[in-house]
Amino acid sequence: MTKKKVAKSKLSLEDKYKLYEDSVQCHEADIDFIKKEYKKLYKKNAVVFREDFGGTAAMACDWVKLSPKNKAYAIDLDPEPVKYGKENHYLKLSDEEQSRMQYIMGNVLGPQKFKSDITVAFNFSYFIFKKRAELLDYFKKVHKSLNKDGVFFLDLFGGSDCCEPLEEATEHDGHTYYWDCEKFNPLTNEVLYYIHFKMHKDKVKHEQVFTYDWRMWSPMELREILDEAGFSESFTYWEGTDKDGSGDGNFYKSDDEENCESWVIYIGAKK
Ligand SMILES: C[S@@+](CC[C@H](N)C(=O)[O-])C[C@H]1O[C@@H](n2cnc3c(N)ncnc32)[C@H](O)[C@@H]1O
Repeated sequence: MTKKKVAKSKLSLEDKYKLYEDSVQCHEADIDFIKKEYKKLYKKNAVVFREDFGGTAAMACDWVKLSPKNKAYAIDLDPEPVKYGKENHYLKLSDEEQSRMQYIMGNVLGPQKFKSDITVAFNFSYFIFKKRAELLDYFKKVHKSLNKDGVFFLDLFGGSDCCEPLEEATEHDGHTYYWDCEKFNPLTNEVLYYIHFKMHKDKVKHEQVFTYDWRMWSPMELREILDEAGFSESFTYWEGTDKDGSGDGNFYKSDDEENCESWVIYIGAKK
């Protein structure tokens, strides 16, 4: 029997964020969704995009490639993902595209000098706000920083599996990605999640490469707080399913669905 190798993460910065992006992000699909939904709501294209909790800002860098009119800002307070993003995404843009994209090293709660048509808080990053008053404060600041025809998009996950201590493994080319729910407190909805990676080439499992100490919010809680923050209307978007019952990548507005083991939704909120 082979002995299971477990190592504290010694991944390089390059590997850490490459593995993260390959396993977790599908920002092309996110961009496609927000672009189409904005157009449906306002019959025009969004131009200024703000990516809150942007990390490497892969999404903001792609936004400026869509049109020579587009501008993007990505806000994150951690220099580590920002460094990776500048080296691996920003530097691949043309000089002209770079002039329309800006990394902002700072807090999403801080004041900004620009207004956006679309602001996103993706990959559940706003779960760091564990108190209702903190989340309300953040939503109010997003609301203030949007243009008149502005929309705020968030994503959210849930389902019966998300509240169980459970380690879920997904195979990718060259590595296994683990989404590990270490604990869930049913009284506060606080959760502790880890991301681990195992490299296929040496079978070394890098433990706790990312840690998330979060509060799980529910769709209606979020919509009520968005309403209180001043948003005029909000929508939940549920994912369609293909023949074998897995998500088909098409999200539609809905207020009533059957629960399942695991779901991811978008919420959109109009200024
Ligand atoms: C889960 S990652 C999401 C990264 C990226 N948005 C994505 O979709 O993969 C959360 C990011 O939020 C950043 N962050 C946490 N609190 C923040 C705050 N108050 N202001 C700005 N960034 C913050 C962290 O540094 C981290 O890069």
